[in-house]
Amino acid sequence: MVADPRPDAAASLANRFGAKAIVDPLQLITDNSVEAVVIAASAEAHADLIVACAEVGKPIFCEKPASLTLQDSARSLAAVEAAGVTLQVGFNRRFARDFRAAHEAIVGGAIGTPQLMRSLTRDPGLANPGGVPPWTIFLQTLIHDFDALLWLNPEADPIEVYATADALVAPDFKASGLLDTAIVVITFDNGARAVAEASFSAAYGYDVRAEVFGSVGMVTAGSDARTAMVLRDATGLRQETARGDVELMGDAYTAEFVEFVTAIQQGRQPYATGQDARRALAVALACIESVETHAPIAVDRSAAMLAR
Ligand SMILES: NC(=O)c1ccc[n+]([C@@H]2O[C@H](COP(=O)([O-])OP(=O)(O)OC[C@H]3O[C@@H](n4cnc5c(N)ncnc54)[C@H](O)[C@@H]3O)[C@@H](O)[C@H]2O)c1
Repeated sequence: MVADPRPDAAASLANRFGAKAIVDPLQLITDNSVEAVVIAASAEAHADLIVACAEVGKPIFCEKPASLTLQDSARSLAAVEAAGVTLQVGFNRRFARDFRAAHEAIVGGAIGTPQLMRSLTRDPGLANPGGVPPWTIFLQTLIHDFDALLWLNPEADPIEVYATADALVAPDFKASGLLDTAIVVITFDNGARAVAEASFSAAYGYDVRAEVFGSVGMVTAGSDARTAMVLRDATGLRQETARGDVELMGDAYTAEFVEFVTAIQQGRQPYATGQDARRALAVALACIESVETHAPIAVDRSAAMLAR
């Protein structure tokens, strides 16, 4: 079953899978034939939908960001905990094979203590600059990089951010709140420094990468290449690049749903939790304050601390 307040949107997805299309998400959530719910609605709807699912005891997969404020995060996570339901958040990089291998190498001690880190997201197209909600670059794009960096520095918590951002791709929309280019420096309590950057308009395709330099080694993950094939001819070297997130991250999207179903069946926590989403959100919110004040901002400790 697919629910969307826009009947055309619900029908176009439902028709591809022979599913039923409805306009009221609450009707879907409370339907007895629905065993689990995937929330891929606009971000501002996520927290209320998570609470509605928890109240009827349904497992939840929610796209990032799971909420847009720490208050909504606390409210929705409390409902999930009270109901004891599964909540997985759509941090797809955790399910990309190279990112997962990088994480496992770091956890296994292969690079020693992380010291310098970088993560980037470059999106190929900004089709509708007027339709981008304010602060999207931090709350919905760089939130992937914040989660990846926190996950790739697993023994540490973020303590401070400094962020700078601008509208370089669509400057005419800056006055109405668009930021399409950003750089963030994150300081961790183990001393590591991370740089996260994002652009909404990479001419060459969709580009997601990470690098972690540690005391005894370095790992890298991610690529903008569509395949590993490299063509060499009289003009030089050429490699095709991925043009969208589904093309680049298709396997990761599949793997995260496999994890969701497996976690439900095994009655365990999924690999990317609501608590992970809260930590990444705390970094994103500190970035917004940093851009507003032009100053480094302490990350909310109570939200950013990993429960160890
Ligand atoms: N993992 C990724 O890399 C990735 C990629 C793209 C989008 N996303 C996330 O997916 C979510 C959706 O993104 P989008 O660009 O499609 O957003 P969008 O704002 O275009 O909304 C998608 C649909 O949600 C519907 N909607 C709004 N309120 C709803 C509600 N209460 N119940 C049900 N449907 C509702 C809208 O009518 C629309 O059809 C966002 O949270 C976004 O950050 C994640």
